[in-house]
Amino acid sequence: MNLKAVIFDLDGVICFTDKYHYQAWKALADRLGIYFDEVINNRLRGVSRMASLEIILERSETAYSQAEKEAFAEEKNNTYRKLLEQMSPADLTDEVRQTLQELRRRGCRLAIGSSSKNTKFILGQIGLGDFFDAIADGTDITRSKPDPEVFLLAAERLGLAPADCAVVEDARAGIQAAKAGGMTALALFGDAAHCGLEDVNLSSFADILNHI
Ligand code: BG6
Ligand code: MG
Repeated sequence: MNLKAVIFDLDGVICFTDKYHYQAWKALADRLGIYFDEVINNRLRGVSRMASLEIILERSETAYSQAEKEAFAEEKNNTYRKLLEQMSPADLTDEVRQTLQELRRRGCRLAIGSSSKNTKFILGQIGLGDFFDAIADGTDITRSKPDPEVFLLAAERLGLAPADCAVVEDARAGIQAAKAGGMTALALFGDAAHCGLEDVNLSSFADILNHI
């Protein structure tokens, strides 16, 4: 495809923080007496922290103020950060490490495009703090996926045109964002796979090597 760069989503692609997001949201939902399960959790993929909270509150009878919602989001994030402290370079799989190294060996530029405000903390935990050529994350943007803002910023920071970039995503919202930004969308796992908007369905992380 003659692509010059790959922009990776973080949560659910480079590492499996989805289970920690779930545990932290579940603890908040249980405390508030709101039903929450793994199916609802799937709708939170790629969605910003506040938008995720709104999805959880759909099942609440109480109308909370903006200040209460911000406190809930902070409570969830504190629980989530404690769970992230357990992460280490052992949480990076050999497959992901070797694929990233091979892409770099081929001259491909590598970036992260994530909605998460915890991106740099997570990359540090798994030993990739200095690895990527560019990072665009939730601290840089005002519009979350499916808006292309985070991917366009990653491409700009790489100094490349969107058409030169592929995006790897596990979220349908992320595939929508990649296409809206004019990039090649590679779907891996989650609700991205076979969502109908992707250019390629990857069979595994290492399968990226067959499409770049
Ligand atoms: C995305 C996750 O990467 O980041 C979402 O898929 C999450 O589930 C979002 O809500 C924001 O994350 P954070 O770490 O800023 O709360
Ligand atoms: Mg994701």
